Amino acid sequence: MKQICVVGVGYVGLITAAGFADLGNRVMALDIMEEKIEGLKNGIMPIYEPGLEELVERNVKAGRLNFTTSYADALQNTEFVFIAVGTPSGVDGEADLQYVGAAARSIAENMQDYLIVINKSTVPVGTGDWVAGIIESHQPKPIPFSVVSCPEFLREGSAILDFQNPHRTVLGSLDREAANKVAQLHLSLRAPIVITDLRTAEMIKYASNAFLATKISFINEIANICEALGADVKEVAVGMGYDKRIGQAFLNAGLGYGGSCFPKDVLALAHMAREKGRHPQLLDAVMDINGDRRPMAVNRVKEMLDGSLKGKTIGMLGLAFKPNTDDMRDAPAIDIANALIAAGANVRAYDPVSMEVAAAILPSVEMCDDPYCVAENADALMINTEWNEFVHLDFPCIRDSMKTPVIFDGRNLYEPEDMKSLGFKYRGLGRGYNGSTTEEK
Ligand code: UGA
Repeated sequence: MKQICVVGVGYVGLITAAGFADLGNRVMALDIMEEKIEGLKNGIMPIYEPGLEELVERNVKAGRLNFTTSYADALQNTEFVFIAVGTPSGVDGEADLQYVGAAARSIAENMQDYLIVINKSTVPVGTGDWVAGIIESHQPKPIPFSVVSCPEFLREGSAILDFQNPHRTVLGSLDREAANKVAQLHLSLRAPIVITDLRTAEMIKYASNAFLATKISFINEIANICEALGADVKEVAVGMGYDKRIGQAFLNAGLGYGGSCFPKDVLALAHMAREKGRHPQLLDAVMDINGDRRPMAVNRVKEMLDGSLKGKTIGMLGLAFKPNTDDMRDAPAIDIANALIAAGANVRAYDPVSMEVAAAILPSVEMCDDPYCVAENADALMINTEWNEFVHLDFPCIRDSMKTPVIFDGRNLYEPEDMKSLGFKYRGLGRGYNGSTTEEK
């Protein structure tokens, strides 16, 4: 049986490797970082993702999943090699392809037989052709290979479920036979498979993320208008979402999108457009609206504290960019905490899983053991991430322990009327006049 090799053991790589192993394939996961591979060999995950540790353990035990730092070992008797390395934002928002290039070179130098090189990393349109060129020019002797683009649509926090239940698999290649072989690997996932050319597949990924980001900025703009007109954005979203052409998903107004994907991908798509002389008006507006959410949140808390943050203690519930992950990359909480501190406030915080990561990024924020310790003597509480465990807190206890019972809900987790009846001064986003149906109209 030929094996699959996955290069990169970050979110995408590790989930792809463990996911394919779980489907019965023999998988070799490769990373050039010794400590990550050593950790994985000892059962230590380099990332937090619900269910991942069990999935990896099960497949390692069954002998289907192995780890290595050696390309020579990994490419032996391998027919499929997935490139799943990071593509961070470079200057001007251009995707930085140094890791993809390095992986392609190492593949070229170590391949021994025909290989299908499958790109999973989010890469600028045209990268598949570039990768093919690198492999061709770095092979010690010519060995045939094909390049296929298979963009990733996993969400952090539900990545394993997403791997097992994809909405679709997109495959792009100039070599139809290679694309068909990669399609075979995905057949048991029982999702529609779209086979197209390389560049179109690469574009499908950017267009999908940009569209979802657009939905978020759209609903955040509607939230602003709702506040001005006294309407409730949560109910507006529900009412809109029943129209199947619109759908309920990605219409939660709040602090806007963060993470390692949307901010980077919208910027990269706009950059690609500009480079070709196009004016990405809508993408620019999407980014503008998103960028405004964080300072707006700081101003909102300031207003709720009668115009001054100096010497005030603000408690933050949630730090990660979204629930069920410890990922702090471009998390709104970072900019918000820094702005509050710059305005003279003391900030303390609690997050169910990201505090260790966050402490290194936000050294001036006091990390607390639980939401109640965050609330004690605080002038205001902010909800940054909609973790489930924040839904049913003991609010009377929180109210009584705060200096002033003020809640700014950046994720619209609570109902304004409930919070009012509990005795809080409460504001969400887009929940009627000033973000609160309980305010004087
Ligand atoms: C996103 C896409 O959803 C995945 O399909 C894609 O594979 C991934 O990027 C990627 O390119 O690798 P992810 O960044 O993990 O996944 O998280 P999402 O669940 O999409 O959320 C992104 C951000 O949007 C979060 O900050 C979240 O809080 C925010 N968001 C999401 C909203 O503000 N409102 C919503 O209604 C939905």
